[in-house]
Amino acid sequence: MLETRNLTARFGGHVAVDSVSCTFSSGTLTAIVGPNGAGKTTYFNLISGQLRASAGSVWLDGKDITREPASTRTHRGLGRAFQLTQLFPNLSVVENVRLAVQSRRKEGLNLWSVWADHRNTLECAHALLESARLGARADAAVSSLPHGDQRKLEVAMLMALEPRVYMFDEPTAGMSLDDVPAILNLIHTLKKRANKIILLVEHKMDVVRELADRIVVLHNGRLVADGEPAAVIASPIVQQAYLGTAAVEETT
Ligand SMILES: Nc1ncnc2c1ncn2[C@@H]1O[C@H](COP(=O)(O)OP(=O)(O)O)[C@@H](O)[C@H]1O
Ligand SMILES: [Mg+2]
Repeated sequence: MLETRNLTARFGGHVAVDSVSCTFSSGTLTAIVGPNGAGKTTYFNLISGQLRASAGSVWLDGKDITREPASTRTHRGLGRAFQLTQLFPNLSVVENVRLAVQSRRKEGLNLWSVWADHRNTLECAHALLESARLGARADAAVSSLPHGDQRKLEVAMLMALEPRVYMFDEPTAGMSLDDVPAILNLIHTLKKRANKIILLVEHKMDVVRELADRIVVLHNGRLVADGEPAAVIASPIVQQAYLGTAAVEETT
């Protein structure tokens, strides 16, 4: 179980995440929504350890991990999607994924339950690429991938690491519509297969509606709604927040 208690991030006088208390259980995909600037990415950064909390705490399985560095949290199973800068640009796509699979195995956490036991890491890497619809790019250098394929690779890498907590921050942002289903299928498969905690920041409400078991709404850094998707989507606060987003986007 993952929990934040009064978790807060201040940047100077600005409170980006304002005393957010929330508990996330295994087997649940929670969508975190809210307008741009609501504090969603900052909240992720606080959970993963990329950012130190100004106040409040983060708990994983009853342990206070608030003061732990990001690397320790990763080791505990908090999985944040890779950035391209963390990959080996001159190695092929499949080699990058294979290294991720291998790094996981070294820790003795073989959770790719069914096939991990009898397939080698390269086959695992290929299977992951297939499920991300990146099979055709297996031998390409990472640096040569178009944007949509890079995003797919980030998700495939994260899955290769088999974290206990998956954090996806707008995994389909900037993708062409053709690429979106592959990512959604991956997350959907993940959700069905494993008893994981999945946190998904996503703007596309149809996606949220389809994938989420629960929706948490952030607005001006505060948690303003939390509950079953249909009810949250219908709530005035969400309608208002999303009208707010549309207005902002139109002017930019
Ligand atoms: N490193 C930072 N320094 C100063 N302000 C920041 C920093 N990171 C985020 N912010 C501010 O915190 C608020 C929340 O940002 P963010 O978490 O990125 O929102 P979201 O992901 O919901 O769009 C914004 O007002 C943003 O400008
Ligand atoms: Mg963000």
